[in-house]
Amino acid sequence: MPKVLVTGGSGFIGAALVRGLLAKGWDVRCLDDNSRGNPRRLAGVMDDLEFVQGDVRDAEVVDRATKGMDAVAHLAFINGTEFFYNKPALVLEVGVKGALNTLDSALKHGVGQYWLMSSSEVYQTPPVVPTDESVPFYSPDPLNPRYSYGGGKLISELLAVNYGRGKFEKTVIVRPHNVYGPDMGWEHVLPQFALRAKAAVASQPEGSVRFPIQGDGSQTRAFCHIDDFTEGCLLAYLAGDDQNIYHVGTPIETTIRELAELVVRCFGRDALIQPGAEPPGATPRRVPDVSKVGRLGYVPKVSLENGVRATVEWYAANEGLMRATSQ
Ligand SMILES: NC(=O)c1ccc[n+]([C@@H]2O[C@H](COP(=O)([O-])OP(=O)(O)OC[C@H]3O[C@@H](n4cnc5c(N)ncnc54)[C@H](O)[C@@H]3O)[C@@H](O)[C@H]2O)c1
Repeated sequence: MPKVLVTGGSGFIGAALVRGLLAKGWDVRCLDDNSRGNPRRLAGVMDDLEFVQGDVRDAEVVDRATKGMDAVAHLAFINGTEFFYNKPALVLEVGVKGALNTLDSALKHGVGQYWLMSSSEVYQTPPVVPTDESVPFYSPDPLNPRYSYGGGKLISELLAVNYGRGKFEKTVIVRPHNVYGPDMGWEHVLPQFALRAKAAVASQPEGSVRFPIQGDGSQTRAFCHIDDFTEGCLLAYLAGDDQNIYHVGTPIETTIRELAELVVRCFGRDALIQPGAEPPGATPRRVPDVSKVGRLGYVPKVSLENGVRATVEWYAANEGLMRATSQ
């Protein structure tokens, strides 16, 4: 069986990818420090894989975990918008050292394939929407801590492409666009909406539910369910071409206002949206063109309505986990 190291394997996307790789017959080793990941996401498959608890910033740990692998899927990163603002140095340290350590070890041990998880944040505010993989990536303002994350991804991509060129059989980069689903973490718009809606509905038992949001709600994103994302990501990594970048997401554009209304409707109520101030560096519109991964056979299937409902239900039922797991 081919062997793969998945860094960030107890994270939201990592755990889904691990399950997908196991189902396809891969032998999986995970490396995660569980700082933001949690082994509960691997419940039911923990006995089918090897789990190494360790830090991707530690070159020796990465080296040991990489030895004997046929592929490295590098996902470990500090995700979550609020961390971009309040822990920018850590975001960059984990991003850059993690990329360098996994690449150095993969090259040293003759690993054939290097799969990087990048992000739509490399575009910041894309000049073309829907955005395909040829649109330039850049950092609009190095002084704004928000761009620590996008900058870390940008550097990771450059490292992967240039370290890997001519050395790996295959270097593939996936740029996920707004992946969501149950247990996706707490510092994202959908979980925060779900928990705020639960509280707002309880404290306003009658009429429309007053629901404050950042900005006027006209910002758009294209929300991709984790099941669709995992399928597209596996297609890109397993069937994609060397030195290629693939967007994985959905082309369906949703405003933040529509998302907020949908979340409140999951509790059987209508929302009265209350616009607020926007944080600096927020992006008005982001929607991927996914035709490149589409040519590999990718077709997203989960409707926003069904996907959001299941996610909101998970958060409403598991709120207690937030206090237990947040750092
Ligand atoms: N969720 C999305 O919509 C989205 C969008 C774009 C890109 N991504 C990227 O996909 C990847 C997975 O994201 P996610 O949403 O699953 O986030 P996540 O936080 O759930 O997963 C990241 C994992 O990395 C681990 N990690 C962090 N620092 C580490 C370190 N120093 N050493 C070892 N492990 C460490 C965390 O414990 C966590 O399990 C990340 O690279 C992220 O940047 C996610």
